[in-house]
Amino acid sequence: MSNIVHVVGTGTIGEPLIGLLCDLKNPLGIDEVTFYKHSPVLTDRPKVKGLLDRGGKLVVRKEETSAFRELGLEPDYTAEEAIARASVVVDCTPKGIGRKNKESLYATYENKVRGFLAQGSEYGFGKMYAAGINDQALNQDKYIHIVSCNTHNIAVAIKAVALDVSPSNFVSGRFVCIRRANDISQGSKFIPSPEVGGHNDERGTHHARDVWHLYNTLGLDLDVFSSAMKVNTQYMHSIWFDIKVKQETGLEEVIQRFTDDPRVAVTNKQLANLVFSFGRDHGHYGRILNQTVVVLPTLHVRNKKEVVGFCFTPQDGNSIMSSVAAIEHLLYPEEYEERIEVLSPFLFDEV
Ligand SMILES: NC(=O)c1ccc[n+]([C@@H]2O[C@H](COP(=O)([O-])OP(=O)(O)OC[C@H]3O[C@@H](n4cnc5c(N)ncnc54)[C@H](OP(=O)(O)O)[C@@H]3O)[C@@H](O)[C@H]2O)c1
Repeated sequence: MSNIVHVVGTGTIGEPLIGLLCDLKNPLGIDEVTFYKHSPVLTDRPKVKGLLDRGGKLVVRKEETSAFRELGLEPDYTAEEAIARASVVVDCTPKGIGRKNKESLYATYENKVRGFLAQGSEYGFGKMYAAGINDQALNQDKYIHIVSCNTHNIAVAIKAVALDVSPSNFVSGRFVCIRRANDISQGSKFIPSPEVGGHNDERGTHHARDVWHLYNTLGLDLDVFSSAMKVNTQYMHSIWFDIKVKQETGLEEVIQRFTDDPRVAVTNKQLANLVFSFGRDHGHYGRILNQTVVVLPTLHVRNKKEVVGFCFTPQDGNSIMSSVAAIEHLLYPEEYEERIEVLSPFLFDEV
């Protein structure tokens, strides 16, 4: 039986994920990578050609086949054919579409496809997952929700500062997500000045809500709260955190714990563009796959029981890492950890 991974969406997260799966197909034990392109747009032609050159197979809606042919792009499968053939489907579409696809499309193929993944904005799609945080909770689930990039970052900060000592060491966590307005791959939604966000959830914003749900898959009930704002930059999200712990700690110990976590990169750089630029030079498709980049000079311990600092979020890199881990868990539940070792060149200790 062939292992076919089908990615729906070729945007900020879909494109590098398809590229990575194509490039590492053999070590990941994937026989074929198919990808769904929604709009037949002339300006996207080079992107699609690039993914075809890497070995991906093009999937489009039946009614758009001739429009893609007019662009010189020959589709291999229709949208429904591709889902019916797939072992795993990874939905990388904007907010709300993944859940709609689940009801209108994926449900039909539930018995044939091993699992469906969706990304950050699809609250309610399935079991929340972040690699290295709640792997024990994965149980061949049919629907998996890869949490958002900032949720990954908050989750690993909680783990390194508090939970790695013991599950009862965490007292509370407060987080401010300082988000970049849009990605360098996106042409809209830029803003003229910093924009502050409201609190629409009992845990503030979706970031703390999602991290609560993520850790709840392990039976934990964490006191977390988050706020969010956007700044007029395209380089990386930053997060300010304030985590209270039960057991006394000190700065050196906190630095050691961040340094020891394989999914954390540390940095002495205090400008996001310099961290972003490191990813451009050393990452796959410019992506750092770590869950966070912790800024060492900003770390501070108050009263031996409160850890404060800043970290940068490798936006989409951490979600790509967790997507590959979840795909491999569905395909090779017994050996997925060894298989995803192939991504280790893109996990950095220091940036
Ligand atoms: N961007 C990030 O840094 C980031 C990080 C973590 C998680 N995420 C999550 O990843 C998901 C996707 O975000 P993104 O930033 O990659 O979005 P994006 O750049 O806007 O790309 C969205 C993709 O979805 C396709 N699409 C649009 N409407 C569709 C439809 N009705 N059916 C099927 N495909 C459709 C688009 O295709 P066409 O262009 O061909 O129309 C495009 O390829 C979201 O859940 C987001 O929260 C994003």
